[in-house]
Amino acid sequence: MAKYNFQHFITTLLLFFFISPTFSKQSFRPKALVLPVTKDVATTNQYKAQINQRTPLVPLNIIVDLGGLFLWVDCENQYISSTYRPARCRSAQCSLAKFDDCGVCFSSPKPGCNNNTCSVAPGNSVTQSAMSGELAEDILSIQSSNGFNPGQNVMVSRFLFSCARTFLLEGLASGASGMAGLGRNKLALPSQLASAFSFAKKFAICLSSSKGVVLFGDGPYGFLPNVVFDSKSLTYTPLLINPFSTAAFAKSEPSAEYFIGVKTIKIDGKVVSLDTSLLSIDSSNGAGGTKISTVDPYTVLEASIYKAVTDAFVKASAARNIKRVDSVAPFEFCYTNVTGTRLGADVPTIELYLQNNVIWRIFGANSMVNINDEVLCLGFVIGGENTWASIVIGGYQLENNLLQFDLAASKLGFSSLLFGRQTTCSNFNFTSTA
Ligand SMILES: *[C@@H]1O[C@H](CO)[C@@H](O)[C@H](O)[C@H]1NC(C)=O
Ligand SMILES: *[C@@H]1O[C@H](CO)[C@@H](O)[C@H](O)[C@H]1NC(C)=O
Ligand SMILES: *[C@@H]1O[C@H](CO)[C@@H](O)[C@H](O)[C@H]1NC(C)=O
Repeated sequence: MAKYNFQHFITTLLLFFFISPTFSKQSFRPKALVLPVTKDVATTNQYKAQINQRTPLVPLNIIVDLGGLFLWVDCENQYISSTYRPARCRSAQCSLAKFDDCGVCFSSPKPGCNNNTCSVAPGNSVTQSAMSGELAEDILSIQSSNGFNPGQNVMVSRFLFSCARTFLLEGLASGASGMAGLGRNKLALPSQLASAFSFAKKFAICLSSSKGVVLFGDGPYGFLPNVVFDSKSLTYTPLLINPFSTAAFAKSEPSAEYFIGVKTIKIDGKVVSLDTSLLSIDSSNGAGGTKISTVDPYTVLEASIYKAVTDAFVKASAARNIKRVDSVAPFEFCYTNVTGTRLGADVPTIELYLQNNVIWRIFGANSMVNINDEVLCLGFVIGGENTWASIVIGGYQLENNLLQFDLAASKLGFSSLLFGRQTTCSNFNFTSTA
């Protein structure tokens, strides 16, 4: 009996080592993960990150989509991996997608084309196009972090993503093979990574025109030289839920995008008079409100808000004797001979008064886009008819501001312009401690 038990023990032990090599490697549990992000300044102004996926691992450039539903990659061009597994219809993985159409594919089986698999709707939020794609799992490798440096690479053995066809890449920066959705739903990267490593459902973005970061997991987060952000150094406002998704085929799911409550806009201390009903989310159709986006390069304002804000900005600039010059597309309001300050061009400050009575101040570094050595333009654009949210705070206005999204508490923590703390988002210490 004792002998049998001993053999059983040895067999179990052997089995353990055979079937769980990734587990034993991963007895190291990261407290956070880091994804370095670069900006495609040459053409698209999109923010690109590199992930490693598949067996053997393949490095992929993917576009960061803050409100996106999940990771999707092009599987049509080339997808070779011994660890690719399609998600079966009505499986637990499928129910996470909340979109359980059962896919059929009329060609030979390959990644992206299997029968009896769950099909989801990968979407390109830049071109607003979407398609039907196979939900699948594969290995994802990402760098761990202590919040201050990158550390060793860690693996998620069954990371859920969607396959897409090559045409969905249209409109993305060259070399991109997909998009990484950071939305508030369960399939998006923040939730999947938090459950894989049992850390808090929180993540931070700190973008810049050169190198920035996305940090998954809780802070404190550090930037050189020795500037640390934790819950005490951030200002918080509630994240609002838009009950209607604008994603294609999203059925009646609430939106995975991040909305905040702007209540008033002031420019150089004066209230901008506008139709405040546009600032709240219409509960009957989800229109209106203010969302944060990394795929819109500049802040987009609904036409009447655009007019009110730019009129007020022009007046306030005139009061400061700032000289206006000709427009430079896509911008209308351009200036010359503006003096510089630590917080960027010395132009009127735009203040967003948010829920919780906190203020998001937009200083020159985030409001003015440098066209050349002499000309700067107000980096806001007018929304077309397809703009559903009244205000979309775009990438340029987010740069060099640290934003932390707390999914469990549904709140946004923001740092304000890091130049005020003598650092920038490109000052994350990228030297690995591994
Ligand atoms: C899926 O099923 C259809 C109909 O039974 C069949 O024609 C097709 O070849 C199958 N496709 C794959 C990828 O197995
Ligand atoms: C720029 O400002 C300086 C100092 O105020 C002034 O002398 C100069 O004429 C201005 N140049 C233009 C192009 O407005
Ligand atoms: C960056 O991090 C590395 C590793 O911890 C450290 O040795 C180095 O001093 C840091 N760089 C600076 C400028 O502090």
